[in-house]
Amino acid sequence: MSLQNQEIIPTNCLFSLKAVDFTINGKKILSDISIDLEPGVVTGIIGPSGAGKSTLLSLLNKLLSPTGGEIFFDGRNLSSFPSQELRKLVGMVQQRPHLFAGTIRYNLEYGPKIWQIDYSDEDLFKLMSKVALPADFLDREIDGLSGGEQQRVSFARSLANQPCVLLLDEPTSALDIISSEIIENTIKQLAKEGMKIIIVTHSLQQTQDLTEQLLFLKDGCFIEKTSTIDFFKKYDEEEIRTFFKSKTEGK
Ligand SMILES: Nc1ncnc2c1ncn2[C@@H]1O[C@H](COP(=O)(O)OP(=O)(O)OP(=O)(O)O)[C@@H](O)[C@H]1O
Ligand SMILES: [Mg+2]
Repeated sequence: MSLQNQEIIPTNCLFSLKAVDFTINGKKILSDISIDLEPGVVTGIIGPSGAGKSTLLSLLNKLLSPTGGEIFFDGRNLSSFPSQELRKLVGMVQQRPHLFAGTIRYNLEYGPKIWQIDYSDEDLFKLMSKVALPADFLDREIDGLSGGEQQRVSFARSLANQPCVLLLDEPTSALDIISSEIIENTIKQLAKEGMKIIIVTHSLQQTQDLTEQLLFLKDGCFIEKTSTIDFFKKYDEEEIRTFFKSKTEGK
């Protein structure tokens, strides 16, 4: 079915999940998730390791498809949304980046070429600075990069597509404090410019500084959706510290 013919449900939702299940190899990873995500707020997804946070993000840009239920993006059912078009609109920085073999330049130019977006060297340097990568890295091979450098290339590659939504899966998990701060400032700036952002994080500081709304997942189930302010009002300091500490254990 083409996009033009597809049924569009009028909505104020960025993403709307209706009774979503995801099962793989007989194991239920996500169970009966129904949530509406509004546009215009930075949403954090939090929850213990193994809760299903990465799986949920992968469903939102069709790297995976639900085994039950339905997902709508801006009122359109993802099941009939062309993947390439969706991924132009919904960029994703994966927890473990999958970059293309070749140079950083090749990775950054790949998406824009598909969409006939022209990038000058200066544009590429700007992208690199947003993710704290030195300009002279542009022609370096992906193979020789550290995990943190690859994570930043993955971020820049998503930005190069000029998406309207960014899904970030622990985008600073492999970075030192200085690089993390640069990425966090970029995230804040993007949000200010109107980018819709959904970020999975285990960081208490990022949850406080970057997000306005939180989804809490546990054992593949949706536990609660709350404003970040209410979340921090609801739990006392010790509970919150234990909450975030327990999520980073074993990582
Ligand atoms: N392909 C797969 N086959 C079997 N189990 C899987 C597969 N992919 C994910 N899982 C399991 O699904 C559960 C959720 O995984 P997921 O990566 O979504 O968790 P997460 O909340 O992102 O965890 P973390 O915080 O550690 O990144 C885990 O128990 C994981 O082992
Ligand atoms: Mg994960």
